[in-house]
Amino acid sequence: MSTRAVAHNRVEVMHGVNLDMLGRRDPRHYGSLTLDDLERRITADASDLGLTVRFFQTNAESEFVEHLHRLDGLADAIILNPGAWTHYAWAIHDALELAELPAVEVHLSDIHAREPWRRVSVIEDLCLASIVGRGPDGYREALQRLHRQLTLG
Ligand code: DQA
Repeated sequence: MSTRAVAHNRVEVMHGVNLDMLGRRDPRHYGSLTLDDLERRITADASDLGLTVRFFQTNAESEFVEHLHRLDGLADAIILNPGAWTHYAWAIHDALELAELPAVEVHLSDIHAREPWRRVSVIEDLCLASIVGRGPDGYREALQRLHRQLTLG
């Protein structure tokens, strides 16, 4: 994998509802890392690829939507894990569409191998890739996918 630096290298990593509770959530699905641990790993992986990351987490859907509204000119790509909103929050779909940035969806657990209601992702059609069930490594794969996109266009 090339680690060539890219000019547009700002990746916004957005964590949705209940992701601040990592470390206390069921480790069979979500592992044992806290959100801080996870963000440290993502920062190191991003730096290896010449990408810079900024993080955002909220438990309020309106704040998640408004953050997407405000990304214009501040980010070149998005990694998002909206948590349970993934499965029904069409307002997040519409805000992501408005952001007009390359995006990758990540889920720590395999949403296709759990309850039926988790199998739907309302943002899937707007994402370059949906990476599920890979735990924290999923974020590295998302960074690699976006690095490719930002390098090759
Ligand atoms: C999750 C999967 C969702 O179904 C769940 O509601 C979450 C986390 C994941 O990362 O596996 O909160 O997005």
